[in-house]
Amino acid sequence: MHTISFVSASGGAGKTLFSILTAGALAIRGKKVLLIDMDPSASATLYLLDKYVEDCNLQTLLKNLVDYKLGRAARRADVNDCLARHRVAGAEASSFDLLPGGNLSDIQSEVFQVSGWNRLMADLVAPIESGYDYVIVDSPNWLFPLFPMTVSLSSLYVVMTRPGKSEIEKTKVFLQRVFAIMDRQFGIAQPQIYALVVLNQIRQNAQPDEVEREGKAAYDGLSREFPGIKFAYSDKKAKYYGEKKESAFWGFKYYEDLRLDSYKQNGHVLASSKVREEKPKLQFRAYLELFTKFVEETAVYERLVE
Ligand SMILES: Nc1ncnc2c1ncn2[C@@H]1O[C@H](COP(=O)(O)OP(=O)(O)O)[C@@H](O)[C@H]1O
Ligand SMILES: [Mg+2]
Repeated sequence: MHTISFVSASGGAGKTLFSILTAGALAIRGKKVLLIDMDPSASATLYLLDKYVEDCNLQTLLKNLVDYKLGRAARRADVNDCLARHRVAGAEASSFDLLPGGNLSDIQSEVFQVSGWNRLMADLVAPIESGYDYVIVDSPNWLFPLFPMTVSLSSLYVVMTRPGKSEIEKTKVFLQRVFAIMDRQFGIAQPQIYALVVLNQIRQNAQPDEVEREGKAAYDGLSREFPGIKFAYSDKKAKYYGEKKESAFWGFKYYEDLRLDSYKQNGHVLASSKVREEKPKLQFRAYLELFTKFVEETAVYERLVE
């Protein structure tokens, strides 16, 4: 079992989109997948189920766990009771489980009453995680005070970032903060090696040469600061960005076919015949290969938090 959190320095970078598409792609490949919606705005849940699940979600489960730890509840709730099943759009024979999100902000002050609160998410998921090959976490904003709970839960991070100097600077500050939490709160040595950076939302009209420049700039900026991180880059050439020119894979452009709305209407980019354009498919396949390699190579270091 591998737990992978999708994180980013800014909102709108693609955490929710790529949590859902990655969970779907792994399910299509026959993997058992759980998607945990940790975002207090529960956007993955809203996309996948079209509604909030009021009575049974991450908020109610965490509230129960806090009450149990503080001696206010007699028994621990069963996480299985709250799981929803999502059939992958366009590949309905494949499915993954969703742990619906809830407004964790509402129970923040109660969570802080538990000593070792930053390990509560790991504790919550422990009874069910061994049933899965992959646990994918759509993380909350990193400025959210409960964010450190994500760190005890995940072993690996996919860091979504947009190109451009200011976005890369933001990502640096963000990574410094995450690595500091991993190191200081959880005693994780070499936290950098657990991160895969994915460049997303490269300008639609960028030519392959420009994509390469943007990609290199992001790569250089981040790998200079964090020599241990991995970058979703592949030098296997294909027509990723242009009609004619073959180039290396540097990340994702913004495509209508990748949008969450398109996922629902037209199906998963890998599964759907309605997605006619080859480029988003090529980019997603390259990403998935790099993602899988990252997980396999990094898993040997796993078992971060005891
Ligand atoms: N490469 C992309 N191509 C097309 N749409 C994208 C891409 N990346 C993100 N989006 C869209 O941008 C919006 C923000 O992405 P989202 O995953 O919600 O970000 P986050 O969860 O990090 O806030 C969503 O509507 C999503 O579908
Ligand atoms: Mg989101």
